[in-house]
Amino acid sequence: MLTFTPEQRRQFAEDIDGDYRPKTNKTIVLVGLMGSGKSALGKRLAVALDRAFIDSDSIIEQESGLRIRDIFELSGEKKFREIERKIILRYLQGPAIILSTGGGAFCTPETRAGINAHAISIWLDATPKILLRRIGNTSSRPLLHTGDPLQILSNLRQKRLSDYQQAELHVRTGRHSRRLSMKKILNILEQNSYIEALSDKNEK
Ligand code: S3P
Repeated sequence: MLTFTPEQRRQFAEDIDGDYRPKTNKTIVLVGLMGSGKSALGKRLAVALDRAFIDSDSIIEQESGLRIRDIFELSGEKKFREIERKIILRYLQGPAIILSTGGGAFCTPETRAGINAHAISIWLDATPKILLRRIGNTSSRPLLHTGDPLQILSNLRQKRLSDYQQAELHVRTGRHSRRLSMKKILNILEQNSYIEALSDKNEK
């Protein structure tokens, strides 16, 4: 469970316009491809709503003592998905948090069903080109090692689109800043009455 130092809070708060309060006691889960901003925006959302933040990949690494790419190499993707599903379903039973998931988690039917039954899901989407630019170094992403990363991301996006579309809320994170992406996320949560603004967003 990740909580933040005062310094991190200050840093993340720079990308948050206004003050908000959750009106839901459900966990908010961020889904979408690698590079869509699940972790960076998830941490900011956690600060905005004063909730703890969890990244499912980090928990998998902590609990197994292995890096994601080593799990893929040693045990294969099927085993990884099993571990991922168990961890995500476990956190969905706990207190309301902000949960950022690995890019393929929402494409495992049981994991997706658990998320949709217990949490609010937000799909963060961007074009493959933007995703790859944000990912930068692909060394920790085993799925991008089998060929041209841009082509792989395009194929994955096509293949997973119908899964991601089953997320409750959709946000395009595009080429713009984290601050603007945060605004879009907070706006859509507010429009759906999951959070409320405590101050005028234009005041800051
Ligand atoms: C994966 C995405 C990765 C990680 C694993 C598999 C995927 O997480 O879970 O490499 O299937 O798209 P990020 O989306 O956080 O990079």
